[in-house]
Amino acid sequence: MVAIAIKSITAIAALSLVNTAQAWYNDLPSCLSPFEPFVYTGCYDNGQPGQKEALTLRTDLDQQNMTVETCVSHCKGNNYRLAGLSYYGVCYCGQTVSTGLLPEDQCSFPCTGNSSETCGGDTQINIWMDPTFPPLKDQTDISEYVPVGCWTDDANEGKALFYRQDNLDSPTLTTEKCLQSCLSGGFPFAGTEYGGECYCGVVVGNGTALATDASTCNMPCNGNPDETCGGPARLSLYVAKDLQSLEPCGTPPDTSSTITTPPATSTKPPTTSSTTTAPVCTSTSVTPSTCEYKIGRWCSNPVPEWQNKAGCLVSWSQCLIQSTSCFLKAGFPDALSCFQYTEWCTNLDLYCLTKCVGKACDKPGFIGKYPPKGGNPPTTQTSTYPCPTTVTVTTKTKTTTTPAPTSSCPVPSPTGICTQPTNKKYGYSPGNPVGGIALPVVTCNNIKDDWNNGNVFKLYTDKDSHNCPSYTRPKCPSACVDACKAQFQQCESVYADGCKKGLVDYSWKAADAACQAQYNDCLTVNKNVKGDGKCTTWNC
Ligand SMILES: *[C@@H]1O[C@H](CO)[C@@H](O)[C@H](O)[C@H]1NC(C)=O
Ligand SMILES: *[C@@H]1O[C@H](CO)[C@@H](O)[C@H](O)[C@H]1NC(C)=O
Ligand SMILES: *[C@@H]1O[C@H](CO)[C@@H](O)[C@H](O)[C@H]1NC(C)=O
Repeated sequence: MVAIAIKSITAIAALSLVNTAQAWYNDLPSCLSPFEPFVYTGCYDNGQPGQKEALTLRTDLDQQNMTVETCVSHCKGNNYRLAGLSYYGVCYCGQTVSTGLLPEDQCSFPCTGNSSETCGGDTQINIWMDPTFPPLKDQTDISEYVPVGCWTDDANEGKALFYRQDNLDSPTLTTEKCLQSCLSGGFPFAGTEYGGECYCGVVVGNGTALATDASTCNMPCNGNPDETCGGPARLSLYVAKDLQSLEPCGTPPDTSSTITTPPATSTKPPTTSSTTTAPVCTSTSVTPSTCEYKIGRWCSNPVPEWQNKAGCLVSWSQCLIQSTSCFLKAGFPDALSCFQYTEWCTNLDLYCLTKCVGKACDKPGFIGKYPPKGGNPPTTQTSTYPCPTTVTVTTKTKTTTTPAPTSSCPVPSPTGICTQPTNKKYGYSPGNPVGGIALPVVTCNNIKDDWNNGNVFKLYTDKDSHNCPSYTRPKCPSACVDACKAQFQQCESVYADGCKKGLVDYSWKAADAACQAQYNDCLTVNKNVKGDGKCTTWNC
């Protein structure tokens, strides 16, 4: 799901054939100054042994005492956009991700230096991103690179640029080919040398200097004699500012957009005022929308407000859990638009994971960026009244805080008690169900009375959980059977039917077969599900 945030990067990376054969690199010190925290982007494949890894640079930092902070500050200090951790504490840095996103639970190894942090898996890697880079644009082209002269590249002083582009053919090298190759890898520095060599880098080596005699860059490019491609131990260097961080290490983070304590403006009413008009106070009350997102005959309940990441994720789970009811209730063909709602929930998840890190975040912030469609917005009512003038002694007895009714609680995070099956032939797997229609969530019951009666599980098929079926512990397998059935029903009625009617561009027969196969596999993989150890206590 998090793939959206990083899609443009992986798209660029797909073109990249960055060579990483060099065994050493100019290691700059870690960034110790405060900087914008890196944003977590997800769990990625790090390749089987011998295969290409997700990020280009495997650092030689101590693996035995690794934390996210250590790795991130190292990559920041070395000007990389991304930092990654694999196998308990191997720290990587890179500009782009060259592999695919995996389900979050595949990254599960604790970090050696802080066991509450996650450091990938055997062949998986957790990746964080520096948010201070300008966003990558798909249409960014090589005109971003500006020539900055002729520079020395003396092997004894360490190479000027770390990444040699061996994938480029030396006899046909041109400046454009080199710049394109560096752009594909997201590198801000590019350089040509000796007529046919191309290098890319995120920093320029410390032994490199502007050549005292610019005419030492005197070799025509092998692929275009009208261009100059450096010289012997001389580099024609180019820089693309758009690929560099706007706040490299040493720049104080920009706090203008984050919550800062407002300046103490002393705008007290002038005490010399002779008028006796009581100051006017206003109060704003917001009546929440009853129909937040509307598709066909279906409407979503508004997701609750939040102030932090935990609250945001509760809202996300409320969002996701309602998506099943959309497919069931919207009516055909409107139900085809339920994917838009699921996407909205995914954006919410992304928002929680990126915008709520180390910052305050709230629902209006999200709604502003991703307005829900079709529903009615909340109504705001402002009333004006004279401010109370006497300072009332606030006694504790006055505020009898009525405990919030605990009859129901936020829906627990949609952790899977039932499993989405995998099938290579039909191409479905967790996170990638047929037609994009997810297996409805079975998780802990959020209605207290019902829970007390022993119905610890619930299948969330209705937006109002009071209407959702609940199950006792021994009936857990039935919950999964019902979930598989509901998914099958939606698969047939929305996806396969959409194909039949030509609304979805796919063969109906193949869609139908995939729905059937997924249903059968679903029953099989969930046959022995018991939900052991799950939902054993009431968590509100
Ligand atoms: C591990 O690293 C921390 C700082 O990140 C340091 O304070 C601590 O002494 C290190 N422990 C060992 C055993 O090296
Ligand atoms: C370990 O990681 C957790 C989670 O990121 C963090 O809250 C905690 O401060 C870290 N502990 C140390 C000693 O750095
Ligand atoms: C460049 O950095 C390397 C490694 O950090 C160091 O050994 C070398 O002395 C530095 N060279 C110059 C010219 O500063």
